[in-house]
Amino acid sequence: AAAAMAAERGPAMATCTAPVNIAVIKYWGKRDTDLILPINSSLSVTLHQDQLKTTTTAAASRDFTEDRLWLNGKEADVGHPRVQACLREVRRLARKRRGGGEDTAALSLSYKIHIASENNFPTAAGLASSAAGYACLVSALARLYGLEEELSEVARRGSGSACRSMFGGFVQWQRGERPDGTDSLALQVAPETHWPELRVLVLVVSGEKKPVGSTVGMQTSVETSPLLKHRAEAVVPERLAQMMRHIQERDFEGFGQLAMRDSNQFHATCLDTFPPIFYLTDLSRQIIALAHRYNAHHGHTKVAYTFDAGPNAVIFALADTVAEFVEVVRRSFPPATNGDQFVRGLPVGSAALSQELAAAVVTEPVPGAVQYILHTKPGPGPQLVDDPSQHLLGADGLPRSRA
Ligand code: DP6
Repeated sequence: AAAAMAAERGPAMATCTAPVNIAVIKYWGKRDTDLILPINSSLSVTLHQDQLKTTTTAAASRDFTEDRLWLNGKEADVGHPRVQACLREVRRLARKRRGGGEDTAALSLSYKIHIASENNFPTAAGLASSAAGYACLVSALARLYGLEEELSEVARRGSGSACRSMFGGFVQWQRGERPDGTDSLALQVAPETHWPELRVLVLVVSGEKKPVGSTVGMQTSVETSPLLKHRAEAVVPERLAQMMRHIQERDFEGFGQLAMRDSNQFHATCLDTFPPIFYLTDLSRQIIALAHRYNAHHGHTKVAYTFDAGPNAVIFALADTVAEFVEVVRRSFPPATNGDQFVRGLPVGSAALSQELAAAVVTEPVPGAVQYILHTKPGPGPQLVDDPSQHLLGADGLPRSRA
């Protein structure tokens, strides 16, 4: 009778959403590849979930016969070591919390679980989805097991950068000193409301798959790049302190300059890796040059670029610069077909470019090179989804057919 009742009630379920983040002081290199402990601290801006988010539902039931995982509606390997590491850590914390005593009200830790996860943006766009994915997985599991503690340490086991997606706004991942990683956590530097004028433009570029994944790439860099060693020991500690000051003071000049320099140094360590790794493309270099021409024309830092281990460019700007710079991008990379969908996300006003600006900044247009621009801003950390109709799994524990 109890089993029948449980089946009627359906599985216990929790759904969360989590954000993408973009580093302005980059993480590149691990000192412990199993625990995912970095060689340097890093700092990022969490992006708003209205534009980019992962949603994950975790369910547990005595009726499930095995752990299962679905990503964007397709079944995936739940045995993936990093998924398993997150599961193991969450269960360990849940066990610890219950102090070994058998709490009948709490969900049994021996039940198998089903997990479904999806992004509100195309995976093919190459927008860093593993950070949001693991932050969301850990948030949903924690909710399912009723955990309330700080979980960036667990998200870190999924993907290093995921620990920073456990908070909104401006987030530091401190490298920590301990070999067991208990002090390698994310901390919020300032909430998303701290700098209301800050905007982010993601320039989603056409085609191109990233050549080397970040996990493999950064390990080769650790093994071969003396520049990376120098960066971690001598450059990042000072930059991190500087970047925190720029953020506290909402100093866009300082923030933007340092973000660009740090992105460039990260890519320099990739070139210093042997054999070298190339993430920047001709198009990246065109965007970099464009940003510098634009800033030079205005005589100060109006836009700042940053690039991760892929070809998309992320541009920081203040709200009053967005319309003009978007027009500059549109003129520099005239959209091939989807002219009306070239700008997505937050609304962008229209701007006319002066002859002088256009002549100085828009040099050799490359049609179709930028697929679209996503306009977003800093946003909050993971959110609980209360509405049960939003669960990605049905009462049968299987993915709901998607609209
Ligand atoms: C260039 O977090 O994806 O985006 O820890 O191996 O999963 P793993 O790597 P990942 O690396 C991100 C590297 C980066 C810089 C950054 O986000 O700080």
